[in-house]
Amino acid sequence: MKISNAHLRSFRNHNETVFDFGARVNVLLGENGQGKTNALEALSFLCLTKSFYASADATVMQQQQSFFEIKSVLQSDEGKEFHVRVTYDDVKKEKKFTINGAAVEKFSSVIGMFPVVILSPENSSITFGSPADRRKFIDLVISQSSKSYVEDSMEYRRIVRQRNTILSEAKGRDCSSDIAPWNDMLIRYGSKIINKRNQFLKEFAPYIAQTYLDIVDERETPKIEYAPSIYIQSESTVENISSAMEQKLQKKKNDEMRFQTTLVGPHRDDILFSLNGMSLKHFASQGQHKTFLVALKVAEFFFLKERCNETPIFLLDDVFSELDEYRSKKLLTLAESLGQIFITTTSEKIFGGAEWNNERRKFFIRSGAIDNEMVVA
Ligand SMILES: Nc1ncnc2c1ncn2[C@@H]1O[C@H](COP(=O)(O)OP(=O)(O)O)[C@@H](O)[C@H]1O
Ligand SMILES: [Mg+2]
Repeated sequence: MKISNAHLRSFRNHNETVFDFGARVNVLLGENGQGKTNALEALSFLCLTKSFYASADATVMQQQQSFFEIKSVLQSDEGKEFHVRVTYDDVKKEKKFTINGAAVEKFSSVIGMFPVVILSPENSSITFGSPADRRKFIDLVISQSSKSYVEDSMEYRRIVRQRNTILSEAKGRDCSSDIAPWNDMLIRYGSKIINKRNQFLKEFAPYIAQTYLDIVDERETPKIEYAPSIYIQSESTVENISSAMEQKLQKKKNDEMRFQTTLVGPHRDDILFSLNGMSLKHFASQGQHKTFLVALKVAEFFFLKERCNETPIFLLDDVFSELDEYRSKKLLTLAESLGQIFITTTSEKIFGGAEWNNERRKFFIRSGAIDNEMVVA
């Protein structure tokens, strides 16, 4: 997959910015707060139909405006062209997504069409943060490789919300008969999600082992394990998982009414990372955290490339500022070998002596615009 160009209108601080991208490496240079990350966010919007960090569409719309638009031409590995256009109208609260002029009815159908991997400072929460951060990470990988997962997850979230409403409206009183029909739904969708995550983590393990080996000189063995909220085994089937969920729901029935919230299901899962058998969260150094994260993201790249049958685009947001020169150069060499990449950075130093041409372009971003004077292409 490649992004040939992108036209941003009223997107964050980009009033009207037109990018003509290089086929391999694209460097967005500039001081802090100029609109580099915003440009990557617009690219992620094309691939995921939403922002990779803002939850509401209106947030990315330029202040004082009532719409935004992103237009772009993307090209598949086979050379097929996709003219993609996203618009948001704040008056009608309406988002539209068109591919080659045809309106997309279900946004979930786009996810995975244009695979993308993002490495940004916020991602440090994947190894440092809460189980929710880790679920978000695996959910985005699985979603891009499985359409049914996106739909099942949306349905599951709706069920949990409904169930929580019943539990909280009961204010601790017995509401078993009201939640009974929701239990079946919770089990039906929850078990599918748990099963998919279980399968995914088994399939993903060799990818992380390989990339870690490629990145790290030392002999460290990374491990990624599923820690679901119910007891399952590596070979568990959807049926096994359903009955385990049913039993646990029965056991937690009173607690759920007391705490007025759903306590059983994949929304309570965690994923454990370890190095040489030691929990990353509890024992790893800052450097090991960073390396693990890079390995996860590169593993995600190769996993998606294989599953989607399409080379993902790779967005690297401000990743060099936290790494020393040796690690930065190593990461850059690795990233450049993957596919089309987009890098934001405040300093050009790491690219010292690089040649800029049709394959490798740099854009100097200032106040939400490309400063052409500074562009060498
Ligand atoms: N919705 C918005 N409308 C207008 N400006 C915005 C909006 N959201 C963020 N900004 C501005 O974008 C700038 C930050 O851009 P960003 O891409 O994060 O910078 P950087 O170049 O450091 O990555 C800030 O000046 C901020 O005020
Ligand atoms: Mg930034």
